[in-house]
Amino acid sequence: MIKSLSGLNSKNLSGTVQVPGDKSISHRAVIFGALSTGETEIHGLLEADDVLATAQAVGNMGASVQHKGSGHWIIRGLGVGGFQAPSVPLDFGNSGTAARLMMGVIAGHNFEAKFVGDESLSRRPMARVLDPLHEMGLNWHEQFDHLPLTLHGPERLMPIEYKLPVPSAQVKSAILIAGLFAPGVTSVFETEATRDHTERMLGYFGAEVSVEEKEGGRLISVKGDAEMNGAPVAVPGDPSSAAFLTAAALVCPGSDITIKGVLINPTRIGFYKTLLEMGADIVFENERTESGEPIADIRVKHSQLSGVDVPAERAPSMIDEYPMLACLSGFAKGTTRMRGLNELRVKESDRLAATQAGLKMVSVSSEIEGDDLIVHGDGKVTGGGFIKTQLDHRIAMSFLVMSLAAEDPIVVDDTRMIATSFPSFIGLMESLGARFK
Ligand code: S3P
Repeated sequence: MIKSLSGLNSKNLSGTVQVPGDKSISHRAVIFGALSTGETEIHGLLEADDVLATAQAVGNMGASVQHKGSGHWIIRGLGVGGFQAPSVPLDFGNSGTAARLMMGVIAGHNFEAKFVGDESLSRRPMARVLDPLHEMGLNWHEQFDHLPLTLHGPERLMPIEYKLPVPSAQVKSAILIAGLFAPGVTSVFETEATRDHTERMLGYFGAEVSVEEKEGGRLISVKGDAEMNGAPVAVPGDPSSAAFLTAAALVCPGSDITIKGVLINPTRIGFYKTLLEMGADIVFENERTESGEPIADIRVKHSQLSGVDVPAERAPSMIDEYPMLACLSGFAKGTTRMRGLNELRVKESDRLAATQAGLKMVSVSSEIEGDDLIVHGDGKVTGGGFIKTQLDHRIAMSFLVMSLAAEDPIVVDDTRMIATSFPSFIGLMESLGARFK
């Protein structure tokens, strides 16, 4: 059932909380566990629809996936190349990461698998992954570029060296995963650093991976005919989910919150870097390393923000945080220019258009110039208005947070999609003192 919601004026958010596990790392822990021999015990797995779709897909191809308790899962894998043909279509719901990473897996199997997804996922471009995987030997029936698709791996996959035409960790990951099945070395060259969880975790599971900093980018290589061994994974808190709590504390007067155990991998923290430049009172405390990833407790206090210029090179490290940053920019004093947002057009919705349409609804002045989003903040947000989330969880959460400090409540049309990445969002926000109706 469609469920609309508003954030109500909130003050003095306080407390120490933990956000659920990182979505990107959760997908990879499940996939790499299923491609390994032996047991992978995962703590802190994100139990949201997107990751559950990945778990179901590997289960449908023969991996053993056991839910032991909250966030605690055990995967018994089949080794690289050990999957069996699924007898049902693999349904990836709303998740681009699940669908695209699993295309890399199917490329390595000489059987057919049908990929389906919801309305939003079925609109998203797949050619960016299918093109390089086709060069390696993957084939498919039906239409090109969009789900539903029936994919078929060849008898023998070929390794490639591929330069990413778009800065996409999903494309990079799909190719590297396919490379596990090919003879020889498969390499991906990226000119802009995208999130590096795949290369970190492949190495952690025993695959031979190398990363070379080169003139103009990074070359990531994986040795094929790989063998991977199950390994324990503690999934850190998701910085993209923590972004909503951070933003709420920044805009609600009197707030002081701490979010414990958040991933601070440099390829993921562009949002926090930008907020510091805007004058936010944010401190990373107790920095430490867990399961090969840097984490910290993030303390955030209410702050008056100022407009800034966000460079295009930073986009991959904060790609999912732009709707929230755009909403925050409405509360800032001065203009914020977010450069190079072309990739936002192909997310769960056209996030560039959906964000700007939302800003218009709540009377924040903004414009799109080429691939840049420009927001003119005047220190306060009038609010009111009705937001069309377009099956996009991050649009829903961004405008709910904005509503907490807007003069008039903002109505978000449909909050169901929040379950794809952050099912405990409303409860966690309420535990800090945020109010919704
Ligand atoms: C993800 C990569 C990003 C991001 C998505 C998760 C991943 O997409 O937007 O939410 O886990 O690899 P792109 O790689 O397509 O930019």
